[in-house]
Amino acid sequence: MTRYLVTSALPYANGPIHFGHVAGAYLPADVYVRTLRMLGEDVLYVCGTDEHGVAITINAEKAGQEYGEYVKHWHADIKQTFDELGIEFDVFSGTSQCAQHVETSQEFFTQLDANGFLEKRTTEQLFCPKDEMFLADRYVVGTCYSCGKPGARGDECPSCGTWIDPLQLTEPACKLCGTTPERKATTHWYLDLPKLRDAKIGDWIQNHEWKPNVAAFIQNLLDDVPQRAITRDMRWGVPVPSEVSGDEQDKVLYVWFDAPIGYVSFTKELMAARGTPDAWKDWWQSPDTRLVHFIGKDNIPFHCLVFPSMLYGVQQDYVMPWQVPANEFYNLAGGKFSTSEGRTLDLDTFFETYDREVTRFYILSTLPETADAEFNLDNLVTLNNAALAGNLGNLITRVLKFIAKNNDNQVPQLTEAHREQYDTMMLTDCGEIGDPAEWVTQYRFRKAAETLIANASVANVFMQRTEPWALRKTDPEAAASALNTLCEYIHWLARWMVPFLPNKAQALWEMLGRPGKVADQPWPGVPQRATWRSFEGGEALGEPAALFPRMDAPVAADA
Ligand code: 2FM
Ligand code: ZN
Repeated sequence: MTRYLVTSALPYANGPIHFGHVAGAYLPADVYVRTLRMLGEDVLYVCGTDEHGVAITINAEKAGQEYGEYVKHWHADIKQTFDELGIEFDVFSGTSQCAQHVETSQEFFTQLDANGFLEKRTTEQLFCPKDEMFLADRYVVGTCYSCGKPGARGDECPSCGTWIDPLQLTEPACKLCGTTPERKATTHWYLDLPKLRDAKIGDWIQNHEWKPNVAAFIQNLLDDVPQRAITRDMRWGVPVPSEVSGDEQDKVLYVWFDAPIGYVSFTKELMAARGTPDAWKDWWQSPDTRLVHFIGKDNIPFHCLVFPSMLYGVQQDYVMPWQVPANEFYNLAGGKFSTSEGRTLDLDTFFETYDREVTRFYILSTLPETADAEFNLDNLVTLNNAALAGNLGNLITRVLKFIAKNNDNQVPQLTEAHREQYDTMMLTDCGEIGDPAEWVTQYRFRKAAETLIANASVANVFMQRTEPWALRKTDPEAAASALNTLCEYIHWLARWMVPFLPNKAQALWEMLGRPGKVADQPWPGVPQRATWRSFEGGEALGEPAALFPRMDAPVAADA
């Protein structure tokens, strides 16, 4: 049976998460997972924080904290934001905290080495004589040799995105003390990507069906694949396995090598906690698995080339990614979200004013699926007031409050004489009813959210055409049948809402007097006239309440 193994890029435990991250890799994955579960699929959703690497050690040092303490703080902070947005993982671990991570990462390294996909080389690297350390990655800064801009780091140039060879930087300097570094010999291991490309990955990439924006991005990846160093001279990280490192001390695996292995080790951790420690293999080493990586576009090379190369290179029947639905960038009113540059929103304050699920729905409605997109508070308020409060909420409140007041809060009776007429009116004549899941499974989350709202419009049209509150005076049976039909349709809306608005869907489920968790319901699909009704009339409803209060326009300081 097909299994879906869904991952979201491991966020660095190096600062708060912002809506740019949320839109890129987390919210779409959560909606995908919730939808698949209701569709009856077997799904595992794995994530956790990326806790190694130089960006973290530098910031922890600045903050005067132990590395372990520093990453635990940000791990908890990030997890809280996910909780607030209703993003729910099966496991959310961390690369320095997961008990299985060191062993799993070392196994990957050892296997790749045994299979001839690593090369050990001694080369000169930059070394700061004052701090007496090799300047791995961001410990060195300089001018980019590709675009000529200052501020290039030893791993990447933030201006032009080039993967940097630190030895080629113009005017390199130690990030910690500004000293001009020296060159000193050191030994490292390189992942032989050209060999892996020629053995398998090149063909695999070319024959794989990618999401269009991903396909465009990876076309160029294969031409110029370098060998990449996967070890570093530092202590924070997964130690290079001693059977390989021999005399070489104080070397760890490069953060980008151990991070994606986190997907595997966190799965092992979860299965061990469930008391089935070998069950991780059913997910990672089974041809029935569909591995789906949700990421932002900057992570495409690692998820479409480097990690698949590692999965293949260990030669242990690991699955290859099935889809990598990468998004473009999600910006904050005109510029990038950037915590370090203060271009961000303080989420604690933000959520004091703005409803979490409305925010979730707004982000889903504006995801950067095919092009960069932007978070804009005015548009969030407009979406709430029009689509949510004005359309979906208005329908629910009017129908349920009217019934509470005029029908003793019980579902009104459907009279046989009106069944066919109202089936036709609702299911055919008032607009097109779509299946949001069809879009979700194509990673078209904006379309899926639009479909939900369009489906609510259908019932609003029905309500305007039948006007049950007026009809009641002339034809009470027809009015009751129309209201019964509306209740029935709201019962469909509650289930369609689950992936997008999980808590509000549950609240609506309870207003409809239905027991249990709406998320445990099967996905409803599109209503078919022979089978779509479930209310006979007379069922007790719950307490009606407004799900989507209208919002005031944001004051300038918020925006
Ligand atoms: O870009 C990032 O935020 C990385 N921490 C993503 C890692 S994804 C995976 F490979 F772990
Ligand atoms: Zn220095």
